[in-house]
Formats: sequence, structure tokens, C-alpha cells
Amino acid sequence: MDKPKVGMVIGASGVTGTPLAEQLAHAGWKIYGVSRRAPQLRGGPFAQFHHVAVDLTDGAATHRALAACADVTHLFHCANDAQADTRLKMIGNTLDAIEAVAPNFANINLLQGTKYYGSYLGPFKTPAKETDPRIPGGDFYYSEEDLVTGRQQGKRWTWTGVRPQAVCGYAAGNPVNLATVLAIYGSIVRELGQPFGFPSTEACFNALIQVVDAELLARGAIYVSTTPECGNRAFNVGNGDMFRWKYMWPALARYFGLELAGPQAYSLREFLSDKQPLWESMTRKYGLKAFPFERTPEWAQGAFSPPNSRLGCEYDFISDTIRVRQAGFAECLDSEQMFLGMFDRFRAEKLIP
Ligand SMILES: NC(=O)c1ccc[n+]([C@@H]2O[C@H](COP(=O)([O-])OP(=O)(O)OC[C@H]3O[C@@H](n4cnc5c(N)ncnc54)[C@H](OP(=O)(O)O)[C@@H]3O)[C@@H](O)[C@H]2O)c1
Repeated sequence: MDKPKVGMVIGASGVTGTPLAEQLAHAGWKIYGVSRRAPQLRGGPFAQFHHVAVDLTDGAATHRALAACADVTHLFHCANDAQADTRLKMIGNTLDAIEAVAPNFANINLLQGTKYYGSYLGPFKTPAKETDPRIPGGDFYYSEEDLVTGRQQGKRWTWTGVRPQAVCGYAAGNPVNLATVLAIYGSIVRELGQPFGFPSTEACFNALIQVVDAELLARGAIYVSTTPECGNRAFNVGNGDMFRWKYMWPALARYFGLELAGPQAYSLREFLSDKQPLWESMTRKYGLKAFPFERTPEWAQGAFSPPNSRLGCEYDFISDTIRVRQAGFAECLDSEQMFLGMFDRFRAEKLIP
């Protein structure tokens, strides 16, 4: 009989960590969820889910908090921070603590991203492949991967990585992502009685882009973490399709019942930056759930140089997902259906009117 699998989700209250914990729960795993704030799992509470509250930048506190988790077999590292050294410290502290207490520790999965290929710096080789050489001026992901691969040498445990494109979903603790921000943008445009303009340039409207549903990503991470042949490798994971906003935009306009309009002179950040009072009044008017709207303008811009942004770039933003499919994870999702399905969910959960 297989040994029971016990997952530990580092960053369990995040946009990638919360669905990971949910998907592990649905698959019957025992789960430890690590974060400072307790996550709210959809469909929960789950009896086999245990929240461990700790600040992972504090090595001694991490040791103490994780000492009771000796049965962990699989780590899913989904913590996030804007500072590269903080991110690295969280991974190091977690591995120190788990290697010390968990004899059946089998794999650590790193939640990486398309930034691995320098996607936010400007045009990059597309579709990006896992085997592409690292790019000059590279990214925080390299030092994290190097830390883990260095520690893995000569050990029984393996590492895996998943590299999603833009992640879409909803986590109560960290709800700011492309799907929620687009839903809020559409709702505001409707409230203002304006046409559904695309808040970026013509080139951005026309370029290829990919996104991934956070739940599909979670199942991909679980698959590669538990498939021995995937050990010590990283995998691009996405919905499996690619699209241009130019052809996606009409479907979104229809969803919000709005007249379609093309590229606009304003960016998504510029549009959102003076709308907080309006969103607060809409929250009261429609009885909406609280949302950290103040974070949305800067989130929309991210680390990209305008006119590029998290909404999209003037260059193709795509990665190749053949490796994960050949490894046996073949799930795919139509991105238009994903957006519309998520917007329905956001309405049902009173995130948008
Ligand atoms: N979101 C995307 O579109 C996207 C796309 C591609 C790749 N990625 C990558 O995916 C990974 C995860 O990102 P995410 O977007 O899921 O992050 P997120 O939503 O910002 O969540 C971050 C998580 O880390 C936890 N955390 C942060 N600092 C902590 C600390 N000091 N101690 C304990 N927990 C801490 C947070 O919990 P508390 O605040 O409650 O402690 C939260 O659970 C990152 O490597 C990111 O680069 C994200």
C-alpha cells in the first residue's frame, strides 16, 4: 500500500496557495497550511486541514512551528514577497525545519512563473521552454532554484517547479489577480455607463497571451510533485490555449452587457488610480464583499515598463506546455470559459455586482 501523503502548503492564504490547499483537501490529503493569516478554504472547513501560523522569515520561530509536522511528505512552496532575499530566506527556513523533522519528506514544489524567462523585461524567446538558457540580468527564481537544487544533491527527496503564466482565481486573503481586477474593471465601466474600452495600446490588444486557472495550476503542481519521473524538473503550466485580447474582449463586453470599444489612451493603472471612492460607494450600494481596491492600480502595472503591464504586453507572452503534457498532466481549459465562469463565481460571492 502507498504511504499516506501529507502536504504542507507554504503561503496557504495566497492566490496560488489557497487553491492548492483546497485541491489537496479534495484529493483526501492531510494538509498543513503555513502563513501568518489563516486562509479561508472554499468548501471548507476541512477536518484534515491544519493551519500553522508563523512568520517564515524568523528561522527559530519556523523551526518551532514546524517541529510538530514530522509526517510531511510533500512541500508546496507558494509564499511570495517583493524582496528577493526575503523569498530566499523563507525557502531556506522552511527546508531547514522540514529536513530536521520529517523523515518521509519526498518533494518540494516551487511555484515559479513566466518571469523565469525574463517575460517582464521585454520581448523574450517565445514560446518559452523549460530548457531555454537563463537570461542575463536574471531573476529571483534562479537563486531560489539554485538553493533548492544545491540542497537536494545526494538526498532522497526531489524538487519540482511549476511556471504558470498569469494566475487567475480567488483567494480570500490575497484576492488581487488578473481575473478579479478585470471583473472590477468591467463592473466600474458599467457603473459609469461607458463602453468597454481596452485599457492599453493597439499592440497589446493584438499580442498573444496565456493565463492559467489557479485550480488547474494546483492540480498540475500536485501531479508533478507525486509523479517520480517528474522529479528534479520544472514545468510550464497553463490553461493550454493562447489568445489575443482583441478576440477575447468582445466576450467580456457581452458578459458585462457593454458596448464594445478598442484600445484606449489610458492604462489599467491610470484608470483604477482614482476609482477607489467609486468602488467604495459601489460596495455599499450593492452590498459587496470588502476588497483591497487600493492595491489594484500598482498591481495592474507590476514590474512591467509601460505600456506593458500585467494586463498584457506589446510582445507575445507565451510559454510552451508540451513538457507537462508529455509527462502525463493533460488538463486544459478554454480561457474565455474560465473568465466567464470566474465572473459568475465573483457575482455569486458578492465580489462584484
Ligand atoms: N499571482 C500570479 O499571477 C503569479 C503568476 C506567476 C507566478 N507567481 C508566483 O507564485 C508564487 C506565489 O505567489 P502568489 O501570487 O500565490 O502569492 P500571494 O497571493 O501574494 O500570497 C503569498 C503567500 O505568502 C505568505 N507569506 C508571505 N510572507 C510570509 C511570511 N513572512 N511568513 C509566512 N507566510 C508568508 C502569505 O501569507 P500571509 O500574508 O498570511 O503570511 C500568502 O499566503 C510566487 O513565487 C509568485 O512569483 C504568481
